[in-house]
Amino acid sequence: MTITETNTATGAAPARQIVPPEELYAQELAFLAAHDEGPRPPGWALTPRAVVTFAMGSDQPLSLPEGAAAPEGTPRRMTIRRKFVGERALVERCVVTLAGERGLLLVGEPGTAKSMLSELLAAAVSGTSALTVQGTAGTTEDQLKYGWNYALLLAQGPSPKALVPSPVLTAMRRGAVARVEEVTRCLPEVQDALISLLSERRVAVPELAGTEDAQAHAAPGFNVIATANLRDKGASEMSAALKRRFNFETVGPIGDFEAELDLVRSQSRAAVERSGAEYRLDDTVLDILVTAFRELRSGRSAEGWEIERPSTVMSTAEAVSVATALGLATAYFPGDRDPLALLPGHLTGVVRKDDPADAARLLGYWDGAVRRRAEEGSATWRTLWDLRPVLEG
Ligand SMILES: Nc1ncnc2c1ncn2[C@@H]1O[C@H](COP(=O)(O)OP(=O)(O)O)[C@@H](O)[C@H]1O
Ligand SMILES: [Mg+2]
Repeated sequence: MTITETNTATGAAPARQIVPPEELYAQELAFLAAHDEGPRPPGWALTPRAVVTFAMGSDQPLSLPEGAAAPEGTPRRMTIRRKFVGERALVERCVVTLAGERGLLLVGEPGTAKSMLSELLAAAVSGTSALTVQGTAGTTEDQLKYGWNYALLLAQGPSPKALVPSPVLTAMRRGAVARVEEVTRCLPEVQDALISLLSERRVAVPELAGTEDAQAHAAPGFNVIATANLRDKGASEMSAALKRRFNFETVGPIGDFEAELDLVRSQSRAAVERSGAEYRLDDTVLDILVTAFRELRSGRSAEGWEIERPSTVMSTAEAVSVATALGLATAYFPGDRDPLALLPGHLTGVVRKDDPADAARLLGYWDGAVRRRAEEGSATWRTLWDLRPVLEG
């Protein structure tokens, strides 16, 4: 999630480029805790229903129940912002999984908000999204279990004080949700270590044998959300045992055109405004941008024409970053150029990053759908068609 806060003039805390959801939405979380007084799974900060509302938003303003005290700094009535765009049923299943004994594995193409959703769920369930391990080929078992402060270890021998817990071990002790990003990038033996954590729900520390710290047990509320990109498969196939320990949920691209357009508009607006500039990108440009991304992603135009798909992922996250770049260009160089004129260059940048053959597929899109719409008399598509030489550049 890339969310920025601007530095206030009085500036107690320095501005940060990324603010975790538990801080950014602290007021919403406090409100939801007071709003839904229903039963919570052990160790949870919110009820399962409130966790879903936190991610999906409330269409209506919500009011605190009569007699419930408003937490400090929180109004009695709030509309919860929609953060994840997608099926409510998917989020409900995720929440139910987290309340159970199995881990949650979010799989999907890159840029479908798997990481974002895992942060939102961890923040809502445990109040923190920070207990995270980034999976890479270099991730070690220590990073899932524990390491040592070697200075202390050498000076005093193994002791609880010298032990450096991993984020997962900290989550176990606190009864919180840990996140393991890109789990399929980890080597099989590291994935196996995660399995034993999830099945045994404890970590043995043989170095401390004979003391009460020889075992760390998971407190109620502990669970793991892992994410995996489908495109990474093969880097390290998940073991069957790991699959048995997780409930899989597939996160797909946003189905609805309007919903994706709204998201691209609001996120690019927020990004441009964060940099202190004025957002002037109009809907004609956004409409074309989102249309092109969706058609290249799905291989089919709105009219039903077939389109050859680039092998690269045309994700919503990429659409947001192109819209942001166009928004910044219009803000910093106003009147220089029609933002539409910048679109082909940006699309080429997105499309070319994995496979040079994709450039030809983008040209194919121009010679097919873009040209036909230009010929049918659309002025904006005509402008795009006239920009075809940019693609050959
Ligand atoms: N369905 C969605 N709902 C909300 N934001 C989305 C959605 N799909 C993509 N995004 C945007 O894409 C960004 C990148 O998502 P991220 O969580 O990093 O994706 P992933 O982990 O799946 O690669 C999000 O922060 C958000 O701006
Ligand atoms: Mg991710």
